[in-house]
Amino acid sequence: MGLIEEHRMTRTVYLNGEYFLENEAKISIFDRGFLMADAVYEVTSVLDGKLIDFKGHADRLNRSLDELDMKNPIPYEELLTVHRELVRLNDIDEGLVYLQISRGAPSDRDFVYPNPDETDPTVVLFTQNKPGLANSPSAKKGLKIISIDDERWGRRDIKTVQLLYPSMGKMMAKKVGADDAWMVQDGYVTEGTSNNAYIIKNNKIVTRGLSNDILHGITRAAVLRFAKEAQMQVEERNFTLDEAYEADEAFITSASTFVMPVVEIDGNKIGHGLPGSNSSRLREIYLEESKKLAI
Ligand code: PDD
Repeated sequence: MGLIEEHRMTRTVYLNGEYFLENEAKISIFDRGFLMADAVYEVTSVLDGKLIDFKGHADRLNRSLDELDMKNPIPYEELLTVHRELVRLNDIDEGLVYLQISRGAPSDRDFVYPNPDETDPTVVLFTQNKPGLANSPSAKKGLKIISIDDERWGRRDIKTVQLLYPSMGKMMAKKVGADDAWMVQDGYVTEGTSNNAYIIKNNKIVTRGLSNDILHGITRAAVLRFAKEAQMQVEERNFTLDEAYEADEAFITSASTFVMPVVEIDGNKIGHGLPGSNSSRLREIYLEESKKLAI
């Protein structure tokens, strides 16, 4: 690897109040994020060098921390500054900012939480450069989905780094030539491995309501708001796989995919097997409106 190439790939990252080159940032082997997945995270997208839905992500981070009795070590304004600084230092036009806060590194492994007065949380942020994120070719082709049982824990509303089952789900999809998996519990779709799931039937958008069963997607909230503003009908309720197979359209949402059409579920073509017009329109509206609100 040439020097210039190496330099280009060496990101500047943030760790506990300081900026480092990515290969110089070090954390303890006793960090509870590493040992126990005792950590929460957020992924915020960047378009035109600006942060999309930043406040939503910051608010959800606070909620995740509260649910786990962790104090937020980084106030809103500082969090925003660090996000912006990383975008600037790494010259990100389109991409993502990843943030993780763990309960920190006590002096030994222990199931009991460490005393927060003695152990500071570990705060890590880094960027992922993704040129072409908004213009993704997948949005024109649509995704192929398989269904799998939802075998995650019961507090999926907390955005923890326990991502092994979602990772296994993506691998199950890949193995059979699909792009992703939707998870099913008691006969109803919960969500995608790293996204919220939707179907459209007779021009009505259907997605599971908010509860501890799914992550309260920030993109979901924005998309449902924009859909209602565009006079589209929205129904928040459980839906089955059979309903999904019979749907006119399907799509997913997340900070890294925005609105992404789904064209096949378990080998069943959805609609005509091409991205649906409502899904494509929602993607356009979401990109346009959220860029206007980006900071
Ligand atoms: N994942 N559901 C799950 C299980 C998720 O992991 C995500 C996000 C979403 C969508 O949430 P939002 O719209 O706030 O991104 C729903 C992120 C992108 C990730 O893990 O990379």
